[in-house]
Amino acid sequence: MKPVRSFASDNNAGVHPEVLQAISAANVGHTVGYGDDAYTDAAVRKFQEHFGSDIEVFFVFNGTAANVLSLKALTESYHAVICSDFAHIYCDECGAPERFTGCKLIPIPNQNGKLTVESVSHAYHGIGDQHHVQPRVIAITQSTEMGTVYQPDEVKALAKFAHDRDMFLHMDGARIANAAVSQAKTLRQATRDLGVDVLSFGGTKNGLMGAEAVVFFDKKLAGNFQFLRKQGMQLASKMRFISVQFEALLSNDLWQKSAQHANRMARLLEKEIRAISKVKIVYPVEANGVFAQVPHDAIAKLQERYFFYVWSEEESVVRWMCSFDTTEDDIRQFAKFVAETV
Ligand SMILES: Cc1ncc(COP(=O)(O)O)c(C=O)c1O
Repeated sequence: MKPVRSFASDNNAGVHPEVLQAISAANVGHTVGYGDDAYTDAAVRKFQEHFGSDIEVFFVFNGTAANVLSLKALTESYHAVICSDFAHIYCDECGAPERFTGCKLIPIPNQNGKLTVESVSHAYHGIGDQHHVQPRVIAITQSTEMGTVYQPDEVKALAKFAHDRDMFLHMDGARIANAAVSQAKTLRQATRDLGVDVLSFGGTKNGLMGAEAVVFFDKKLAGNFQFLRKQGMQLASKMRFISVQFEALLSNDLWQKSAQHANRMARLLEKEIRAISKVKIVYPVEANGVFAQVPHDAIAKLQERYFFYVWSEEESVVRWMCSFDTTEDDIRQFAKFVAETV
């Protein structure tokens, strides 16, 4: 018997009811396609309210596209992108960043999912040497693939390192809402104000349906983006149904409430799991993910009832994610099952 809600991924959650309502409300009459419509104007204005009126924002269908097209906008094929060795762009995008940008990705050993100025500086070499790729972008993920959150000073330091060297800071914000609420920051304080140049703004993991955005904090960088998006097959014809989702997410603090809830559920899960002596939490729980080392022979038994992913087979570490619709009951039932099983 499988439960209705699992802890596999915030992608496995449904669509937030307020978002579905917004889609339904927009489902009247005919509207011009490809973003030339009042719904899209309204959604762009919402982004401007949050991030400042001098931004450019473009909607796309998924996070991989947001990342790949962001990087494409910032690079030539002889450039390099410095990222963590566990970055989604490096591990989980099937080589799409390399294929579409032509750039080399330089993976750096991470510390709990993070890059540091010190680690990045080791990859910054060969500048001006025609035999070497030229580092152009530092790409970080916020919150990280390990469920940790860069502190504001850590992001600022990486931005300064990049800007001092004619480089850009890209943020994969698939879970930027979880990161921002974890530090009680606004979306702008958690991104633009720290020196991020281009943001992949995550919607799907926070309750949207196939809706992500690329936000440029310097309009000049967005110059050719509309062409890149179309060539990248990410221009929605019925754009209004993506746009209204963002409008709903960025209104009435929905982004914040949903992310706060998911993070609170992760902290509750952490607390319940810490009470189980045979299970060890392996990374600080700072957003909506809990990573735990579980006795190896218990993993398959747990998965018989709950679907989730093994993060490291070798270290017997698994990943449990919470989302806007996880309930306290879900957590307690799951933790009880874990305790019984191990
Ligand atoms: C850190 C991170 N970035 C980006 C993405 C976006 O991926 P997708 O292309 O599946 O929307 C994900 C999804 O799992 C992710 O975890």
